[in-house]
Amino acid sequence: MSNFLTLDDVDRGHLEGLLDQATEFLEVLDRPIPKVPALRGKTVAMLFFEPSTRTKMSFDRAAKALSADTMAFSPSGSSLSKGESLKDTTLTILAMGPHAFVVRHKATGAPWQIAEWSGIPTVNAGDGAHQHPTQGLLDALTLRQRFGSLDGLRIALVGDLRHSRVARSDIAAFTTLGAQVTLVAPRTLQPTDVDGWPVATAGELDPLLPDLDAVYLLRIQEERGGGEDFPSVSEYVARFGLTAARAARLPDHAVVLHPGPMNRGVEIAPSVADGPRSLVTTQVRNGVAVRMAVLFELLGGSDA
Ligand code: NCD
Repeated sequence: MSNFLTLDDVDRGHLEGLLDQATEFLEVLDRPIPKVPALRGKTVAMLFFEPSTRTKMSFDRAAKALSADTMAFSPSGSSLSKGESLKDTTLTILAMGPHAFVVRHKATGAPWQIAEWSGIPTVNAGDGAHQHPTQGLLDALTLRQRFGSLDGLRIALVGDLRHSRVARSDIAAFTTLGAQVTLVAPRTLQPTDVDGWPVATAGELDPLLPDLDAVYLLRIQEERGGGEDFPSVSEYVARFGLTAARAARLPDHAVVLHPGPMNRGVEIAPSVADGPRSLVTTQVRNGVAVRMAVLFELLGGSDA
């Protein structure tokens, strides 16, 4: 594999191999010195053109746990404000000698362009509303850890599916691993291109609750216009928010996931986010391990 841009073309064997590798790296992260020399001498350049807390720090942590160096670009304060193009920015940073790019950009396809211009391994850390493949991996790992397998798991993805790159990558990961996925949202927040996807859709959350193994909440993506697509936040919460009362109607074993950042009191009640069903911090921890697995695969860690 020379790039890691989408989960749409990753088959089950490859996906499971990455999750197995990530599971081994979780053990590394538990050691007193949580570091291996696998990528010593390699440099990973992180190009985050959109805001990020978790994903950016997680890739940084992952690279360093493999003994790689990192270089970070941040758009504010960069020459983008002087009119430099994405291509010139890419080629400028490339000339400093990184071995891989990790890219987040608001434009769908930007990481593919950077991969092509640069010719070095490129990881998509989120492009527009399109894909966020390492999020799909970390969510699959979190569910596999809890349930042993995703085969037959009943998972509801709830929220602004139309504008969510997390949803697109999670759908690919979860269904490839055998889960039954239902997309739950008002019609205006359902993806427009859902026909032909291996998922069910629903306009109400309540009837599904007693039969779910996992509920995955998504934020309303205001920055992509999601806030315009329903009448009011209070109406949204009344129908789709995972309140304490709704969470109480889930089976005892059911879990709750969220990619962050959470809007507490909107898609998820604070008591649910902090409650015993919540795997939110486990997801974050697993994110470091899956990003280690991806960087290790791309940068030829096998000879280290
Ligand atoms: C998400 C993202 O940026 O795609 N966050 C993340 O990476 N964990 C989801 C979001 O912004 O809502």
